[in-house]
Amino acid sequence: MTASCVVGLQWGDEAKGKIVDLLADRHDFVIRYNGGANAGHTVVANGRTYKLSLLPTGVLKPHLMSVIGNGVVVYPPRFLEEIDNLKAQGTEVGDNLALSDHAHVIFPYHLEEERLNETGSGQTIGTTGRGIGPCYQDKVGRVTAIRVGDLLHADYLRQKLHAIVPRKNRMLASFGNGLKTFDADQITEEYLGYAERMRPYVKDTIRILHDALREKKRLLFEAAQGSLLDVDHGTYPYVTSSNSCPAGIWSGSGVPARNLEQVIGVVKAYTTRVGRGPFPTELNDGPDGVGEKIRKAGNEYGTVTGRPRRCGWFDAVAVRFTAALAGADQLAVMLLDVLSVADEIKICVAYDFEGERLERFPSDPFVLERCRPVYESMPGWRSEIGSARKLTDLPLATRRYIDRLSELIEKPIGIVSVGPDREQTIFVEQ
Ligand code: IMP
Repeated sequence: MTASCVVGLQWGDEAKGKIVDLLADRHDFVIRYNGGANAGHTVVANGRTYKLSLLPTGVLKPHLMSVIGNGVVVYPPRFLEEIDNLKAQGTEVGDNLALSDHAHVIFPYHLEEERLNETGSGQTIGTTGRGIGPCYQDKVGRVTAIRVGDLLHADYLRQKLHAIVPRKNRMLASFGNGLKTFDADQITEEYLGYAERMRPYVKDTIRILHDALREKKRLLFEAAQGSLLDVDHGTYPYVTSSNSCPAGIWSGSGVPARNLEQVIGVVKAYTTRVGRGPFPTELNDGPDGVGEKIRKAGNEYGTVTGRPRRCGWFDAVAVRFTAALAGADQLAVMLLDVLSVADEIKICVAYDFEGERLERFPSDPFVLERCRPVYESMPGWRSEIGSARKLTDLPLATRRYIDRLSELIEKPIGIVSVGPDREQTIFVEQ
């Protein structure tokens, strides 16, 4: 096996971190290829809970090589803070972490640009406020972009920021609701300080990965966000600004597509979403409803922003689409134990669009917005399942539920997670 990928098939927060952590030991490299510190990966390992947003989950295992690929956008203070936090918790971070010199850098004006976008009168997305969108905008626009490698060339950086910052100040002033301006000298000095601390990690990661391929090392790609948040294929414009489905791997790491041999599509046993945008199976059934019970049992609050996540039933129409898009070979069904709170469990098997039954995920966002879920109902199991270690330990109703998910998505289920701990995992024999 040359390369595998762990990818979310919903709107993010599918607990991909746990799967990456479980599979990491079968690999030599763990690689992030998209997004930035908007991701929130919670991993419970060695009796501790680690929260990572920018560093690959592999960094928790210092014998593995962790790579932040060129497709990632990096906020230097966050990068350094995550390293400091890990070191303070006793985890070594050194030569085992490589940061691409081609990754793009987030600056304070990106955060301000996003804040103004999100508080203005136009269309808002409900972003994480980490400067992700504005940084990717500059990357594609080229003239106002700065890459990690540029931080190591002080004169170039100073010159570049003296051209960019006044331009950004004028642009921010034109928003009308912003008063904040930035000083090029101050940002230059601040970022040169970060650069010195980042220098040991900055590498030509494409060469490192090409060497790894030649040496037949095993690579594990860790997607951030879910495929429904993919900038090309997700529920646009309520998406993130990168390709979160495996399409982002080749561009975001330099590893050719043909090396990807296994895609593990990760889903929650239900659905959550943070931020705005269509969510056909959302449960808006009040403080005593199942939606709230799922939120509480699943601790469905954003890792990055702390926002309560919107909760709903499993949407098999959407996941059948993203499983096909990702080329998923198998599914990992996460947080199955959370559904123990429900007497009756629903699965969305089709959409009703003004009386018409749709079995395929609509490409037209105006149609999706008006789709109503068509549900199939199954009995709940109402019992604790966190101690199950094999499929036969699960109640019959639980097994029927996961079998039905597999049938509807047309993919086998390889992993079932019944709790946050490593041991609370069932590997299904194929
Ligand atoms: P951005 O990525 O901060 O620009 O936010 C764009 C959309 O993606 C918003 O709806 C965010 O809530 C959502 N989003 C970004 N990262 C994550 C994540 O890691 N999990 C879930 N949603 C996310």
